[in-house]
Amino acid sequence: MRKLLVTGGAGFIGSNFVHQVVNDTDLDVVVLDKLTYAGNRASLDGLPEDRVSLVVGDVADEELVDSLVQQTDAVVHFAAESHNDNSLRNPRPFLDTNIIGTYAILEAVRKHGKRLHHISTDEVYGDLELDDPERFSERTPYNPSSPYSSTKAGSDLLVRAWVRSFGVEATISNCSNNFGPRQHIEKFIPRQITNLIDGVRPKLYGAGQNVRDWIHVDDHNAAVLLILDKGVSGETYLIGADGEKNNKEVVELILELMGEADGGYEHVNDRPGHDLRYAIDASKLRSELGWTPRYSDFESGLAATIEWYRANEAWWRAEKAAVEAAYAAQGQ
Ligand code: NAD
Ligand code: TYD
Repeated sequence: MRKLLVTGGAGFIGSNFVHQVVNDTDLDVVVLDKLTYAGNRASLDGLPEDRVSLVVGDVADEELVDSLVQQTDAVVHFAAESHNDNSLRNPRPFLDTNIIGTYAILEAVRKHGKRLHHISTDEVYGDLELDDPERFSERTPYNPSSPYSSTKAGSDLLVRAWVRSFGVEATISNCSNNFGPRQHIEKFIPRQITNLIDGVRPKLYGAGQNVRDWIHVDDHNAAVLLILDKGVSGETYLIGADGEKNNKEVVELILELMGEADGGYEHVNDRPGHDLRYAIDASKLRSELGWTPRYSDFESGLAATIEWYRANEAWWRAEKAAVEAAYAAQGQ
């Protein structure tokens, strides 16, 4: 394998993946990214031009995808509409990109006999009660709640069908909530960090009791590289780093790390259909492929993330006013 096609490589997780591939492997990368509001060319700054190229285009463009898949050895498919709140305001782009886009990738890898790794989310499993001793595993039935998670669930099922019916060589991973540099400021952690930089109090949906299972983006991407190398076609791997925290705890830690421990936060309107808790059992990935997370200290990972947003205001500033106006319109 010499060259990867990375869809969504100008987004949060995809761009961190491209940086990791360049640093840790000999592989070259072609990024296919539509540069939606969530894609940022600057996220690929500093990468060697002889190893990384960016094609601006739509993953649902079958002709374009066919020709890029033909020119590369394997596909890592990150491209998606990724934000639950947006999917509640306007679901249509989620169907176009997450369902039709994945279909276009599958038809191309089928035609050209190329390997696919499909990136998905733990949100396909729905949610858990706060006191449920069980966590999500590869055997948990799908039960998505939102337009976002239902289109991701649909894309996973398409991949499984193409493996079974057409013999496509593909793996799937379902990861928990990521944090780290270059995450769009619409998402929970960077929204609160950039609010505090602007002197605005953090905003908690509802009572702030909802639990997410946080993982550093580099740990997610190291697992993806391992699955690409050693994963078994047709298999699904859950990725998580035992990082369960409720939203109130996360906001309190951000306040403390930013020297605003007494500043407090604001409770705003809850998200309709808000999933209560996600939690991942990553035993299969750990025992079968030998993966272990490196960023086990959430607090130091969060401190480094805060520093990144402080040092890279030019990366996020242009989006801030529009993101906050869209939230304000929902009382959030
Ligand atoms: P993101 O929104 O930051 O990035 C998505 C990227 O895809 C952007 O660069 C965007 O321009 C691009 N894109 C969108 N529509 C496209 C289209 N039609 N054609 C080509 N490119 C398009 O998302 P992210 O948080 O980096 O998530 C990446 C993947 O990881 C998604 O598949 C998401 O479901 C999955 N995932 C995310 C998380 C998380 O915590 N963020 C957790 C688990 C899984
Ligand atoms: P988010 O980053 O949107 O990820 P996801 O919906 O995929 O889990 O939100 C993470 C959690 O934070 C979720 O429980 C919703 C909550 N949240 C807030 O409390 N305030 C906010 O301003 C945002 C954006 C999210």
